[in-house]
Amino acid sequence: MFSFHYLNNVLHGEGINLESLLKEVGTPAYVYSARSIRDHFRELNHAFAPLENYRICYAVKANSNLTILRLLQEEGAWFDIVSAGELFKVLRAGGKAAQCTFAGVGKMSHEIEYALDEGIYSFNIESEEELELINDIAKRRGLKAPIALRVNPDVDTPTHHYISTGKNKNKFGIAFHRIEEIYAKVAALPHLAIRGIQTHIGSQILTATPFLEAIEKLAPLVMKIHQRYGLEFFSIGGGLGILYEGVLEKNAQSLEEQENSFLKAYAHALLRPLKALRLPIFFEPGRFLVGNAGVLLTQVLYRKETSEKNFLIVDAGMNDLIRPALYQGHHDIKPLKAKSREQEESLFEKVDVVGPVCESGDFFARDRLLPPLHAGDKLAILSVGAYGMVMGSNYNARPLPPEILLDGNTAKVIRRRQRWEDLIQGERTL
Ligand code: LLP
Repeated sequence: MFSFHYLNNVLHGEGINLESLLKEVGTPAYVYSARSIRDHFRELNHAFAPLENYRICYAVKANSNLTILRLLQEEGAWFDIVSAGELFKVLRAGGKAAQCTFAGVGKMSHEIEYALDEGIYSFNIESEEELELINDIAKRRGLKAPIALRVNPDVDTPTHHYISTGKNKNKFGIAFHRIEEIYAKVAALPHLAIRGIQTHIGSQILTATPFLEAIEKLAPLVMKIHQRYGLEFFSIGGGLGILYEGVLEKNAQSLEEQENSFLKAYAHALLRPLKALRLPIFFEPGRFLVGNAGVLLTQVLYRKETSEKNFLIVDAGMNDLIRPALYQGHHDIKPLKAKSREQEESLFEKVDVVGPVCESGDFFARDRLLPPLHAGDKLAILSVGAYGMVMGSNYNARPLPPEILLDGNTAKVIRRRQRWEDLIQGERTL
């Protein structure tokens, strides 16, 4: 499952020596493991196989590189999208709109039109006004738009408050107590067709309890709606968390064991109540499939000491990976060349690993114990396959790094490094 490991004291991804790879591609660079993505997909598939009727709809927002979309499609994934742009990318990757669910609180008319014309499987609806707009657009086209309501179950989710979505104070979904009434309204609108029901409680959740709570709360409602209107699916959203700490210290096997034991607990808790519904179940995982399949490689530019801190200034910045700045997200950082453990631990020092961007929020780690590192040393920032590159920006006019996919003994560039010319695309001087 986890495909990055030290071999002869050099970090490798699958069969590839990452130090050698960097001689060709330079830093910073995102590197993904195809095997890890496939393995995670298969593990999840395996865990829910007893359901018989279910689908994994990959949450495209986590990582929308075309090659990764293609790879997941080949594994049998459908897609959960949140914009017309994501649909465009899925189609370009060879996917089908008829295998996409379209979520999001702010779908725009042109996005709805595009998705309808392409034959979207379902719009997951987040407000009454959205319903009316979709009905109107479908009417103009002489079509029936397939829809599911997204229920906000109002459950507590133990995660960062920016990525918790299942409470009434969040902007997401439709309040639980209004769902029946709104399905009745949908049934009366001639250009809508009821296809399913959906929920999503948040992201990076490492215990089955809140998922179970949401499902138990929703089950009677789902059954009632199913009996009344006939549903084709119940989507329980995404949110399965991953390990961010100690990923490399554990050998691959024990990491796998830990991830598997969480997956097993999640599946064990959910299988029975989901099976009892006798409905096709959809999952919308993002992070779980790709998160631990990616690293961001960077190199130390400078060391700098102040009266309070030791800084390692690296060539990746918050524009390349914003999770530490935005969610206080923890990412392990490892040198590509390791010394022996005993040698290292006696010399460890506390450093802040920071980027070149002109913001104090531009950091990857604070007061982190690392072996002594100097200008030119290469580092890997781990667990960045999800919500890494996709949240990148050109802030400070920094070109985005390339993305490389490892597959066995091959390494292929699946998105080239941006050039200065890319920075001015579409702009003009008057
Ligand atoms: N379905 C819906 C409706 C969602 O809103 C999301 C994520 C997912 C599925 C996939 O969730 P996952 O399985 O990846 O947890 N940028 C943040 C995460 C934002 C998640 C937004 N919605 C981060 O870096 O932690």
